[in-house]
Amino acid sequence: MVERPYTLLSCGMSIDGYLDDAAQERLLLSNEADFDRVDEVRAGCDAILVGAATIRQDDPRLLVRSAERRAARVARGETPNPIKVTVTGSCAIDPGAQFFTAGEVDKIVYCASPSVESAQAKLGDVATVVDGGEPVDLHLVTADLTVRGVRRLMVEGGGRMHTQFLTAGLADELQLVVAPFFVGDSRAPRFVTDGDFPWGPGRRATLAEVRQIGDVVLLRYALSDRFQPA
Ligand SMILES: NC(=O)c1ccc[n+]([C@@H]2O[C@H](COP(=O)([O-])OP(=O)(O)OC[C@H]3O[C@@H](n4cnc5c(N)ncnc54)[C@H](OP(=O)(O)O)[C@@H]3O)[C@@H](O)[C@H]2O)c1
Repeated sequence: MVERPYTLLSCGMSIDGYLDDAAQERLLLSNEADFDRVDEVRAGCDAILVGAATIRQDDPRLLVRSAERRAARVARGETPNPIKVTVTGSCAIDPGAQFFTAGEVDKIVYCASPSVESAQAKLGDVATVVDGGEPVDLHLVTADLTVRGVRRLMVEGGGRMHTQFLTAGLADELQLVVAPFFVGDSRAPRFVTDGDFPWGPGRRATLAEVRQIGDVVLLRYALSDRFQPA
C-alpha cells in the first residue's frame, strides 16, 4: 500500500478560535515574522491545499514569497512553488482566481462527481480536474496526491477543510498560531466545525512545541506517530 503524504495543518486563529471575521476583507491574524515562518513551511512542501470557500473569500496566491527559498527548491530539483490543490462540490470557483493565475505550477481541483463535467468545461484549461467522489473523499485525494509524487502536504484551511482532515485521521501535525485579539462574532468561521475528533478528554493530543513569535504564539501538535519534530 502506498503511504499517504505527511500532512501538516496550518492555521492562524484569534484567541476565541476564529479564522476570520464576518467582513468581506481578509482578516490578518498573524504578524510579518510568522508569515515568513509559514513561507518557509510552504517551501518545504510538495503541495498546498485549501477549500474552495477560501479561494472565493481570500483569493490567495499560495506561492513561496522568498526568492531564496524558491531558488533552493529549484536547486533540489523541485518546481519553484508547490502544487496547488483545492476541493469543491459546487465548482463555483472563478478560473480568474489567483489560485489558478499566479505561478507556473500544477493546479489540481478535486471535484464532487456530479460537477465534474461542468468543472472540466470551466476549469479544464487552468487546472487538472479530478473526480473526487460525492462528497469528495479525502482518502481518495491523499492517495491520488501520493501517486502524483506528493510526499508532504500542507493544508492551509479553511475550517471545513481542517475539520475533515482531523476527523478522518489524515493529519500528522497541526501548527496553530494564536493571534492576540478576539473576533467575538459567531457569524465568522471557526478553526473547526462540529465533528467526531480523534482527540478528546480521554485521548489528549501531544503538544510538541510552543514558540513565541512576536505577539503571536505557535503551538505545534503531533497528531500521529509519523510526526516529524525537525
Ligand atoms: N486564518 C487562517 O489560517 C485561514 C486560512 C484559510 C482560510 N481562512 C478563512 O476560512 C474561511 C473559509 O473557511 P470555510 O470553513 O468556510 O471553508 P473552506 O474549508 O475553505 O472550504 C469549504 C468548501 O470546500 C469545499 N469542500 C470541502 N470539503 C468538501 C468535500 N468533502 N466535498 C466537496 N467539497 C468540499 C466546498 O466547496 P463548494 O462550496 O465549492 O462546494 C466547501 O464549501 C474564510 O473566511 C477564510 O478567510 C482562514
